[in-house]
Amino acid sequence: MNYTKIDFNVLMNENGINVIKTIRSNNLLIISSRRYSEILNDLALNAKNIFNFKIVDYNYKSEPSIDIIKDLISKIDFVPDTIIAVGGGSIIDSAKAIKALFNENFPLSIGKRKNIVSNTDFLNAELIVIPSVVGSGAEVSSSSVILDSKKIYLASPNLVPNKIIYDLNLYKTLDHDQKIFGLGDSIVHLIESTFSKLNNGIIRLQLNNLLLNSYNNLKKIKDDSILIEDLIFSSFWGGITQDKFLVGPAHCIAHNLSKSNIKTKHSECVSFLLPEIYMDLYSENENKKQIDNIFKPIGIDFEKFINLFELTISNKSSIKSILSTSINDISNDPAGKFFKLNTKNIYEKYI
Ligand SMILES: [Fe+2]
Repeated sequence: MNYTKIDFNVLMNENGINVIKTIRSNNLLIISSRRYSEILNDLALNAKNIFNFKIVDYNYKSEPSIDIIKDLISKIDFVPDTIIAVGGGSIIDSAKAIKALFNENFPLSIGKRKNIVSNTDFLNAELIVIPSVVGSGAEVSSSSVILDSKKIYLASPNLVPNKIIYDLNLYKTLDHDQKIFGLGDSIVHLIESTFSKLNNGIIRLQLNNLLLNSYNNLKKIKDDSILIEDLIFSSFWGGITQDKFLVGPAHCIAHNLSKSNIKTKHSECVSFLLPEIYMDLYSENENKKQIDNIFKPIGIDFEKFINLFELTISNKSSIKSILSTSINDISNDPAGKFFKLNTKNIYEKYI
């Protein structure tokens, strides 16, 4: 039996970022992109109980690498007691990596199971995240991915953010594709969790509601009536299910794919892969039973759900050409074998 611990301070508000003015901190580190620097500087200066702060801009175009994390850490001239991350997945992942690696000696020694063998001497700092994109679930997860010659996973309950602030104004710059694929990634997180061995009764109960909500969100995004609150709701719960119950075949294959072709965008890739992979799984009796157990009680036909998903989300993907050029690398995908999928057949449908 697995317990599910869900323990967050969460806030959703038009001007949630103003909460910074109420923070108490002796040494506050803020990681953000340049676009928010001015407002963050004003908020920290106007806070009564912030005594020392530093804003470090994340001005790199790529996901965090070990060199980027080392560079960020070199700019910090105090020991932070609070870290605030404002921005997208790379910024949130960097803030977690700084918390994990601040006291670590470089070069890092990497464990056999991809995680860093760290000295576990994580920085004792409160982590506050203010996300500006939806879908990845980085704001609720206990992990951070950094790139070296391969992807390195940092995962620890110490990396779960202590506070999440959803500031509705920050999402105004999201474009249509970011919303679509953000929702796609969230839905894939929910569906993939159904296959997790860690899945227990309490989350199964919640999954029914969440999948029903996802179905409605798909319809809303199709007729352009989706609200940012709807996307945040999906991102939050999708992130929690992914974090607690790990990922399934679409994520495993997408991660392997991004190793062979770094141009693949995670949210597009999983959105595109979901329909073919899950219809392949659904053709097998045991899987069908498992999936029907979750969809039937909410009165939704799984094939209808997947059709709507494909029509709304994955059809728009530009990833088709990337997949077709990577076919030789991935037709023997180990994740595909693990999940007993005929990946060669699946990929050939994309060409
Ligand atoms: Fe994902």
